Amino acid sequence: MSDEDLDAIPGWFDAIDRELFRWFLGSGREISGPGHLVELGSYMGQSAVLIGDHLQDGETFTIIDLFEAPADDEANSQENSESYAGLSRQAFERYYRGVHPALPTVVQDFSERIVDHVEAASTRFMHVDASHLYEHVVLDIAAAKRLLATDGVVVFDDFRSGHTPGVAAAVWSAVATEGLRPIVVSPNKLYATWGEPAPYIDGVATTSPWWTSEVQDVSGGRLLILSPRAHETYRWIKYLPPAAVPGAKKARARLAALTRR
Ligand SMILES: C[S@@+](CC[C@H](N)C(=O)[O-])C[C@H]1O[C@@H](n2cnc3c(N)ncnc32)[C@H](O)[C@@H]1O
Repeated sequence: MSDEDLDAIPGWFDAIDRELFRWFLGSGREISGPGHLVELGSYMGQSAVLIGDHLQDGETFTIIDLFEAPADDEANSQENSESYAGLSRQAFERYYRGVHPALPTVVQDFSERIVDHVEAASTRFMHVDASHLYEHVVLDIAAAKRLLATDGVVVFDDFRSGHTPGVAAAVWSAVATEGLRPIVVSPNKLYATWGEPAPYIDGVATTSPWWTSEVQDVSGGRLLILSPRAHETYRWIKYLPPAAVPGAKKARARLAALTRR
């Protein structure tokens, strides 16, 4: 799965997180063991196609999204109409089939209903990226806790973005009171487990072409903090419409290459 394949799909999936997903879904499987793959909130499929690339025999990949269906509260409806105009299940499926011959199991429903479609304690990797509102993320965390295998990994998007305080509140509350144990944070995502984080923390590369790192003690455990190298400072991209993101990233990379010379 090349970055060009991913860039052809609208979305906001950063270089650091692409590499971390590849590591957790590939090498990380030796720590988690086999298990199912789950995504809550897929939009046009940019992160889903990468997750689907790591599906192995005997495992399933299930995604759940409202797509064009209405939300059942005002705040969630507003969130979706403002951020995901033009989204449809058909568009997701078209993009996914552009990369993979077979679709994952696609469920069009509220994210917390994932528990009706995946067996409890069976999941090795779950990406939580549906509604970013506190009440919804709390339910998604409860679903993740139920579905993850012992050493399964859950990834939360936008856990520290200025426009999504509800994700931060829900995620750190789960760390404080629900036994969730952080592994690593990138600028946009927090990777965590209800199992033992140490083998993952020790396995993630401390430096790479995309990041530098430091370790801090947080809430009684080690936390690996990844910072982008200068040419990967893409946080402003969160505020662009998705169709504009690939072009903006290319322009930023070209500019960075010129200024490095
Ligand atoms: C940030 S986008 C997902 C981006 C995608 N993971 C990617 O990296 O390209 C959030 C998605 O969550 C969906 N969504 C919003 N609220 C939802 C809810 N309550 N239940 C299920 N899906 C929801 C939206 O339709 C949208 O497709």
